[in-house]
Amino acid sequence: MAASRRLLVFFTALAVSLTVAASFSATDSDGSSTDANNAIGRLGIPIPRRNSTGPMVTDLSVCGPAELPPHALPPFQCCPPPSPVPPIDFKFPDSSEPLRVRRRMHKVSAEFLANFTRAIELMKALPKDDPRSFYQQANIHCAYCTGAYKQLGHPELNIQVHNTWFFQPLHRGYLYFFERILGKLIGDPAFAVPFWNWDAPEGMPMPSMFSNRDSTLFDPLRNPSHSPPRYLDMHFDGVDVNRTAEEQVELNLRTMYRQLITNAPLPSLFHGQPYRPGDKPNPGAGSLEVYPHNHVHYWCGDLRRPNNENMGVYYSAGRDPILYPHHSNIDRMWEVWRALDPNRHVDFSDPDWLDASFLFYDEDARLVRMRVRDVLDSSKLRYTYENVHLQWVNAKPTVTPGLSRQRRAAAKALEAVRFPVSLQRAVTAEVRRPRVARSRLAKAVEEEVLVVEGIEFDGTELVKFDVYINAPEYHKVGRGGRELAGSYMSLKHVGHRHHGTFETSLRLALNELLEDLDADGDETVAVTLVPKQGKVRIGGLRIEYLLE
Ligand code: C2O
Repeated sequence: MAASRRLLVFFTALAVSLTVAASFSATDSDGSSTDANNAIGRLGIPIPRRNSTGPMVTDLSVCGPAELPPHALPPFQCCPPPSPVPPIDFKFPDSSEPLRVRRRMHKVSAEFLANFTRAIELMKALPKDDPRSFYQQANIHCAYCTGAYKQLGHPELNIQVHNTWFFQPLHRGYLYFFERILGKLIGDPAFAVPFWNWDAPEGMPMPSMFSNRDSTLFDPLRNPSHSPPRYLDMHFDGVDVNRTAEEQVELNLRTMYRQLITNAPLPSLFHGQPYRPGDKPNPGAGSLEVYPHNHVHYWCGDLRRPNNENMGVYYSAGRDPILYPHHSNIDRMWEVWRALDPNRHVDFSDPDWLDASFLFYDEDARLVRMRVRDVLDSSKLRYTYENVHLQWVNAKPTVTPGLSRQRRAAAKALEAVRFPVSLQRAVTAEVRRPRVARSRLAKAVEEEVLVVEGIEFDGTELVKFDVYINAPEYHKVGRGGRELAGSYMSLKHVGHRHHGTFETSLRLALNELLEDLDADGDETVAVTLVPKQGKVRIGGLRIEYLLE
């Protein structure tokens, strides 16, 4: 069944890809549209596959100095301790092992909390050179996220797992071993890392045990005004907005809907962009990584620190125990996403993804090589998640009344936009849609995607901008309104070696959005880019049609 559907997808794509190129045009002040000088032509095609140079592998021999932002806090070195023997290949745990059930953090029993706390205490008490110590576990995150590892054969290129298709699998492997080490330390083979259930209203405040100053779960490097009962703000912009709990819950639920349903119809839109040996880091994050993942990091971090340590910057995020329940929920979202649409929400089948591998130390301090294909089935890893009702599945954002009628008039009043543009204030560009009012069949197999490309900024800055569709008067859009297609947000971290420039792209899915905005018959969409934080340059906008 799945195979025949894939074939159908393929032939439909062949049939429809004989279309004209997409180009964007800027709106002139007189309202007429002219093709911008850097118009880009694209056909609707699946993810291009380069001749494979083999999968990305991590190797201890190419772990070196981390690239830290200015004013970083020690330790400055985050490579794992050396192993006396070469890494062993990962083996699945025995199927007779108890199934570890990861539960909602805000509902755990007093007994579980005591065990969890004791396990973290024991992990913190291990000597620093023990690869299972909390110190070294925190370093694992730093090493994969600050370019400490280089690409084998490309010493000038870092391995950076964020903003790529490795975001989910790397963190899954990381949490898998973290959990097993904790379980071993307290002698409980069924121990499971709880999840911070920020996607459910009752779970949105930071779980209270993390804000108890006497607990080992407390971290002084956090935003002091974000202790419970304050609700997480999935749109946090660095300033606390006065919202009632109901308003915040509504905004967060709509954000979940937008990122896990509207913006995640296909594997690359959910997981992130392909990243192979020889590629520059940061090809583009998946929908979940930007919202709520990055925003949760930002919201937890201490704004009094220049880099918002600990959670607000990747090199130090692993030093705050809240990282692990946060990533337990991020990992749970992978399972949730697959279950939402078992036909379309499938993982990549590309061997460059499946065979890529990462190194971890296991609960017996042995160095293990784990491939992406090893982490795909959580039941084989002997863990699962407590089943929790997903309220956000019914929280589709609502369309702002009257806005679409005003959109033509408002667009006329705007100055022309020439890309690349340095985003100092909001700009609106009309982007041509190569295919208008496609059939239901075409839409079922192909996603129309807005690509914001050539996003460039100084990697030591935190940047954020919003993207609205058909809403040049974006300030009229209500909280989490439908016209907000998504945002780009990057925590502070340094760019590639030798210079601090960070370059990436953003993809936002349009099929469902354009139908909701009643704009599927329009030949163009008005895209409004609104700067929120930091200085950012945008290379261009285009529409592509994706099938995977
Ligand atoms: Cu590697 Cu939540 O980040």
